[in-house]
Parts: sequence; C-alpha cells; structure tokens
Amino acid sequence: MDFEPKIVAFVCNWCTYAGADLTGTSRIKYAPNVKMIRFPCTGRIDFMLLMKAFANGADGMIVSGCHPNDCHYTSGNFHARRRWTVFRSLLEFMGVDTERIAFTWVSAAEGAKWADVVNSTVEKVRALGPCEAYKNADYE
Ligand code: FES
Repeated sequence: MDFEPKIVAFVCNWCTYAGADLTGTSRIKYAPNVKMIRFPCTGRIDFMLLMKAFANGADGMIVSGCHPNDCHYTSGNFHARRRWTVFRSLLEFMGVDTERIAFTWVSAAEGAKWADVVNSTVEKVRALGPCEAYKNADYE
C-alpha cells in the first residue's frame, strides 16, 4: 500500500485559516492529507505541540499565520518565527528531518498559496516516508 502522509497544520484564525477557507470556496483542489488546528495566533506555537503531533502519528506539519506586520496581535508571528529558529535546531539535534515541517505565512487572500503549501509539504513528506522516531512517545 502506498504511503499517505498525515500532516497537521497549526494555523492562525485570522489569516491562514481564512486563506484555507478561500481555497475551498474557490474550489481549488489540494491534497486531503491535512488536519487543521486553528489558533488565535501562531504566537501560541510551542515545541511540545510539535512533538505531541509526532507522537500522535503526524508525519509532517505546517505552521502558518499572518505575514510579517499583519499579525492581529501585533507581534505573535514574529515570536513564532523566533521560536521556529530554536525549534529547528532542537529537531535537528533530535534527529528529526526539518523538511517535515513547513513554516510559512498565508494571508486570507491567498487561497491558491495555501493549496501550494499543502501540496508541496505532502510531496516532501511522502518522499521522506513515515516519521516513526517519536511515534507513541509519552509527553504527558
Ligand atoms: Fe495571525 Fe498572529 S494573528 S499570526
């Protein structure tokens, strides 16, 4: 059976979630491998959320919010970007290929971009294969 990656997308309510909604209302087709988790702001992202997603079966992730200077909470996306810099080093140290995680900005007007982000992430993770290293890890 062909491997179908499971992708978790952590998205902010104000930009990317609305952009993904536009993808649907524009009838743009994209890979169905993504489960979305909607945050008020990507500033909420933390390392344990990523690791818990891997533990619960995710093979890859997308973290996406408002473009720089468009965050509804002024600087949440800048906090997320700084954290991503640290997360990336930690993940590399832990042996997780950081190509499994896409960190990006998608606005409410970028439905086509959301489809591209999803499709390219699914293709990358499909090529990498299943992420088994931290599956079923207990982070409670
Ligand atoms: Fe969208 Fe902060 S509200 S990233």
